[in-house]
Amino acid sequence: MIELSNLSRHYSMADTDVTVLQQLNLSVEATERVAIVGPSGSGKTTLLLILTGLESPSDGTVKVAQQSLTGMSPDQRADLRRKHIGIVFQSFHLIPTLTARENVALPLEIGGQRNSRKQALAMLDKVGLSARASHYPAQLSGGEQQRVAIARALVHEPELIVADEPTGNLDEHTGDRIMQLLFDLNRDHGTTLLLVTHDHKLAAHCDKTLQLGNGSLHEIDSAALARVQSSS
Ligand SMILES: Nc1ncnc2c1ncn2[C@@H]1O[C@H](COP(=O)(O)OP(=O)(O)OP(=O)(O)O)[C@@H](O)[C@H]1O
Ligand SMILES: [Mg+2]
Repeated sequence: MIELSNLSRHYSMADTDVTVLQQLNLSVEATERVAIVGPSGSGKTTLLLILTGLESPSDGTVKVAQQSLTGMSPDQRADLRRKHIGIVFQSFHLIPTLTARENVALPLEIGGQRNSRKQALAMLDKVGLSARASHYPAQLSGGEQQRVAIARALVHEPELIVADEPTGNLDEHTGDRIMQLLFDLNRDHGTTLLLVTHDHKLAAHCDKTLQLGNGSLHEIDSAALARVQSSS
């Protein structure tokens, strides 16, 4: 489902060159559940943006759903995202002038699906927000906005869900509910999950945990994960 090889990303600033990702390799099979951990600033969000085609690598290749992103036009990348990927952004990216329900319905409407409003409401119900369907993002709490963003990422039943700290703003009970929702999709539809998380419980539910450090990924076992968590 995901194949990254020799991926590098540098940012050129006025007086310095920052290397965020360096010779990074990642392979994720269809239906696999992978957690990515790493300290703040280690490049987790950058990695997700590159593998969803929202940013370009400085070097290396990106293949998602059997398609190479190299050489694709922005429209082709948008098309690939719309058809195959659900993305939960760290900063939500909800559209402020649309209600919760309209935000969730958007991917369906863009895809030309009928019944989008009804499906959007059903998905909001799954994240526990049917009572907030007509609220605008500014009228929602941070955790509620996060759940709208999750509903929007899941509503078109993508094969791959890429989520940046999906439980980061949620209390334990609500976080558990979202975790259940993600893993139910994996079990029932074979949805591949790539989750950036600081949540030990979420990582422990995955098939493997990869730690991002010095620009590349290394698999860590649960004991090492517990040490990372307790020191962060
Ligand atoms: N557009 C940019 N220009 C310059 N530097 C950038 C840019 N985007 C990200 N960086 C740098 O790349 C590094 C990695 O950022 P990134 O957002 O990927 O980290 P992260 O692991 O997601 O951190 P966090 O856990 O805090 O979300 C940071 O040091 C950041 O300053
Ligand atoms: Mg980040």
